[in-house]
Amino acid sequence: MAPVTVSPQPARATTPPQQAPEVSPGNAWYRPVGEFAGEKESNTLRQAMAGLEPPAHRTFTPTQAVLAKSAGIFHWTPEGRRLYDFTSGVLVSNLGHNPARWLKNFASYCQWRPEMLFSGDGAGAAADAGAEEFVTGTTMTAYNGLTPIEVTACERLLASLRGAKGGGRLESVAWAASGSEAVQKAIWACLKRDPARQMIIATRHGYHGKKGLSYAVTGSESDPERDDRVRFISFPMREIRDHSLVGEPIDLSIYQRELEALWAEHGSRLGCLITEPYLGGGGSYHPPREYHQLLQAFCRAHDILLIFDEVQANFGRTGSMYAFETYGVEPDFVVLGKGLGNGVPVAAIAGPQVIMHNLGYGELSDTWSANPLSCAAVVATLDEFESRDIIGHVRRVEPLMFAGLDRLRETGLIAHVRGEGMVYGIECAEFNGHSPAEVAAVIVRVCYQGLGSQPDGTPGDGIHLLGPLAKCVLRVSPPLVITEIQIRDSMELMHRLLVRVREQLSE
Ligand SMILES: Cc1ncc(COP(=O)(O)O)c(C=O)c1O
Repeated sequence: MAPVTVSPQPARATTPPQQAPEVSPGNAWYRPVGEFAGEKESNTLRQAMAGLEPPAHRTFTPTQAVLAKSAGIFHWTPEGRRLYDFTSGVLVSNLGHNPARWLKNFASYCQWRPEMLFSGDGAGAAADAGAEEFVTGTTMTAYNGLTPIEVTACERLLASLRGAKGGGRLESVAWAASGSEAVQKAIWACLKRDPARQMIIATRHGYHGKKGLSYAVTGSESDPERDDRVRFISFPMREIRDHSLVGEPIDLSIYQRELEALWAEHGSRLGCLITEPYLGGGGSYHPPREYHQLLQAFCRAHDILLIFDEVQANFGRTGSMYAFETYGVEPDFVVLGKGLGNGVPVAAIAGPQVIMHNLGYGELSDTWSANPLSCAAVVATLDEFESRDIIGHVRRVEPLMFAGLDRLRETGLIAHVRGEGMVYGIECAEFNGHSPAEVAAVIVRVCYQGLGSQPDGTPGDGIHLLGPLAKCVLRVSPPLVITEIQIRDSMELMHRLLVRVREQLSE
């Protein structure tokens, strides 16, 4: 049973990634649901899906790309168009899509051998299962039990976290099936520490999920039906709107004053503070380290637990294995997800044993947490990070990413570039009477459509982008393993496509 009950709340229109941009009706170039000329198979699938799932099941995108297959940093549409994946499937496939060695290790942790899968019925039959139609593999679901791979995943993940600078408080791990669930579990654990400390501080315009307490700490106090245990503080945005401002002194006293005012009003009813390392869904704002260190100092001074929500930042995105290393903090709790399983759904929290073990049997349990498939994926993902210098690669190519993205400003369509490691936001400018949101929507569509038919009849490459963040910020977050050549080629392609957009919007 959960220690805190939260009544279900309706989907809130202000959750940043769900919003469609405000576009002027009647703009011929803008169609909210993608249907593209020359895409017979994709359009058929889009139409079929429209009758099967409600639109609410997807976040808004001007393309609704149909992805038939993927490898490395590329997707292919059913029509055979190759798309550079600038999303990593919403920051999940950090190692790229279907990495061969990862797949092999994953299968072997699941105890799947090729002969038992592909050599015909019974080739790998379990001799003592009593029937040929069974093979011996990992226990696929182990509720009220545990599997060796779960123990390995816990040990390996904790060793990785604790081996990172700032991971000293992370002593115990609990699993979840999604980032939102993990956030909820981290907050539950903190609230359970002390019944008198039930108030939660969250950073304004953050995104932590759409369900339960993850939803309660998302957004801002102006959103309807706000959970009254939550108080919001500001996160730097204006001062860091462009990466050219990195290193400029920023006045932290306003943030300090907000924290002090909260303490003066609520004192030791404040139990925990949750923040993202950088504002992700809110528009890709990457603060100076001093901001997080200020939050940490406040938390330490008042015995408030600091939760670092690294769901989209973990496993190398910011140029360190964990974002708490990048930002020089030592969180009490860290929330992990997305890239943790490189495509297999899994999330986790890690925190102090004394707090985690204060929860009773079942308070963090559910059907899918720590299922063997997820654990196998985490171990296979850790294998890759521990045997290859992926983090070093991300750091080395960061200047190349900035150079390529900065060059896009020449088109007049991009107002600001910000980011780090392999996670960037490019904020669109107003252009020729078109709002930044309109410009962003057109860029997503034109990038998806790509160069068009080539002289040899093959479809030219395109770029797969997420629907804009905060209406007008394009997320650029390819898999971390993108090579230097691929960065140069994809940035050149994006530049060409943005020149097209400019021509289109100049008409
Ligand atoms: C920082 C952060 N926390 C939590 C979540 C929620 O994760 P999930 O969508 O897996 O529930 C997200 C998702 O984008 C996120 O970016």
